[in-house]
Amino acid sequence: MPRTVRQRIVGALAKMYFKVAGRRLRQELGGGDAGGSPQGEALLRRAAAEGAVLLENDKTLPLTRKFALFGRTQKDTFYSGYGSGGDVLSPYHVCILDGLIAANAPLSECVRAFYEDFSAREPARKGGWGDWDFSNPEPAVPEEILNRAAEETDTAVVVIGRASGEDRDLELEEGSYFLSRGERALLCAVEKKFQRVVLLLNIGGLIDLSFLDEFHFSAVLVLWQGGMEAGGAAADLLLGKVCPSGKLADAVPMSYSDLPTAAYYGSPARVEYKEDIYLGYRHFETFAQDRVRYPFGFGLSYTAFLVTARYLGGAVEYCVRNVGTTSGREVVQVYVQKPGDSPARELIAFHKTAPIPPGGEERGRIPLEKRLFASYDAALHAFAVGGDYALYVGTDVRSADMVSTFSLKREIVEQLSPIAPPPLEEISIPARTGSHTLSDVKRGEIGLEEFCAELGLDDLEALAYGALKMDSPLGAPGNAGVMGGVTPSLRARGVPAVTMTDGPSGIRMRAPCSLIPSATLLACSFDEELLTSVYALVGREMAKRGSHVLLAPGMNLHRTPLCGRNFEYFSEDPLLTGKLAAAAVRGIHSSGAAACPKHFCCNNREFNRSRSDSVLSERALRELYLAGFEICVKESRPRFLMTSYNKINGVYAHYHEALVRGVLRREWGFEGCVVTDWWMRRGKRGGLKNNAYRVRAGVNVLMPGGTYIGKGYQYGGLKGALRRGRLTQDELRKNACEVLRAILPFVTGEEDVVR
Ligand code: GAL
Repeated sequence: MPRTVRQRIVGALAKMYFKVAGRRLRQELGGGDAGGSPQGEALLRRAAAEGAVLLENDKTLPLTRKFALFGRTQKDTFYSGYGSGGDVLSPYHVCILDGLIAANAPLSECVRAFYEDFSAREPARKGGWGDWDFSNPEPAVPEEILNRAAEETDTAVVVIGRASGEDRDLELEEGSYFLSRGERALLCAVEKKFQRVVLLLNIGGLIDLSFLDEFHFSAVLVLWQGGMEAGGAAADLLLGKVCPSGKLADAVPMSYSDLPTAAYYGSPARVEYKEDIYLGYRHFETFAQDRVRYPFGFGLSYTAFLVTARYLGGAVEYCVRNVGTTSGREVVQVYVQKPGDSPARELIAFHKTAPIPPGGEERGRIPLEKRLFASYDAALHAFAVGGDYALYVGTDVRSADMVSTFSLKREIVEQLSPIAPPPLEEISIPARTGSHTLSDVKRGEIGLEEFCAELGLDDLEALAYGALKMDSPLGAPGNAGVMGGVTPSLRARGVPAVTMTDGPSGIRMRAPCSLIPSATLLACSFDEELLTSVYALVGREMAKRGSHVLLAPGMNLHRTPLCGRNFEYFSEDPLLTGKLAAAAVRGIHSSGAAACPKHFCCNNREFNRSRSDSVLSERALRELYLAGFEICVKESRPRFLMTSYNKINGVYAHYHEALVRGVLRREWGFEGCVVTDWWMRRGKRGGLKNNAYRVRAGVNVLMPGGTYIGKGYQYGGLKGALRRGRLTQDELRKNACEVLRAILPFVTGEEDVVR
């Protein structure tokens, strides 16, 4: 469909805006290595390369000769996913073709010209909320162009791309989870003409790879969605400037139907986690090793490593030697086989080496605490050890070698409680008079509880809500919501209006901000330090843009590859997820900003997400779906956390006092502020309903503040609960303490000017 004059004008203006915005971003955010600075851009380009996973290579990569680059995705590159986690106003994007051109790659000019012209004539449709296209229609390449290119070179590179995004899952259809007809036709046409064909996958989460059996690829490189520097990273990898070191954060099945969750995607109202603890590689390594195309933790390099390891009781000692011809990095992975009804392998530790030069080596120790060997015993409500264990060390779950077998005597390592609403705590925060400000608390002149005891009912109630709607005028432009000092009265008490912005791929607001690589890509780096550096960059941009809290990291497990938001999440494995989420939180905190890990919990599907019920066993909750959050909360102490939309075993997350007050707060020691996902569903328990029920459950703030319940933007209901004696003033003051404790680090000491 030819572009109209209007579209051309709009396109040109957009291009100009991004050029100006890019320059402005560099001016505004440059200085130091925030985004928009050469250092920041170099970091994001390196990060986008570190998460790429090389699945096949017959030495065709790195490319040293002229090649023909096919596939419209070279121009219409997917930099991130759609929705709150990807709609970042990036100052620029480097598509795969532009990255290669900038790197002076020896490209076939006739093919390049074809795609430049096609992309200008038929631009990809930009999707809206929940209606984005899974892929862009792939044009047929004229025979004469194929022939001309084949005369220039025997090497072709084909890019296949997929969108992903919020509020919509992939479909089991062509062009979504499966190849489209146009893509298949392109692969057929290219394979006929070229001896060597390299496949690049620019995808947000795993798609069907069974087509790899239909074609012969000299190399397969998964680029994922690499953020604004995606093209530069692709060029660095293809041309050998960077040696691939990414590892799969999800096992790749032979086909969709082999997945343990294929039969349990769920009905609109209910998702039964019947695979229980046997998710992903836990299933395949135990029951179906022959149904794995590429194992969890797998990834090739341009060099070769020799890994040796031994178990010293309490730690693994490793040596990684580079026996190849180029410098590279390896990921040492430690797996355990626990006794009894347990998966054949579980990841319990990993370490990514520094770059090791040819002939060089890295030695080190990976500590292993006893809790890593424990299984959850639902009868005892405890993590316990006891029996025979086997330890494996290697560079993917399948090839890891057994390094030790040993027995542990029966012992409870951690005694917990049933996941049920805990008994109400005795709270007593009696009212007191006074006119202190939160700055006085900051200065240590008055305690936080005493300050809360001075607050009147209106202030206490207002602290339990956001400032009603998204893009609140109280916060930075384009914010997701504001909480804390949402009324003049609270601001007069020195409570700042706290701006919350999305998301896992960078700051989503009405100002240019860096678009970082997707979480799935970053997970495949297996590099905690990298995550910390990338999110520290985002934290520095937050400081300059006026955002206090980043609604990230997204850390729900990849339970099904169809989940539209997998690009925002890390992996099928809880340990990898928890460690990388903690690294991201540390990065955000390092810049004075706050993180808000999400969505707590079991939000593993987008379809009907705000009403569906995730039904699963206590053991699956403890060993998988809570485990990542537990690691993140205990190791990085986030001050905020967001509940999920869905129900868990029949109770909406924003009312789930068993998980929020029982597990998160009481067991894990979380003392921060829990916010809902945006808006909430009607609900009641006993005499409490809606917001009173939520506050009693330990979910402090309704975001953005208005409710599905109210007409338009309004809130209320707590004073009524107080009047009826259902909710106590002590509980409301305790709620305020939890909110203000999380906000306190933002208090600058100057009184807020009442706006
Ligand atoms: C929701 C999303 C959350 C958060 C929120 C604010 O739709 O599930 O992760 O991004 O929007 O924009």
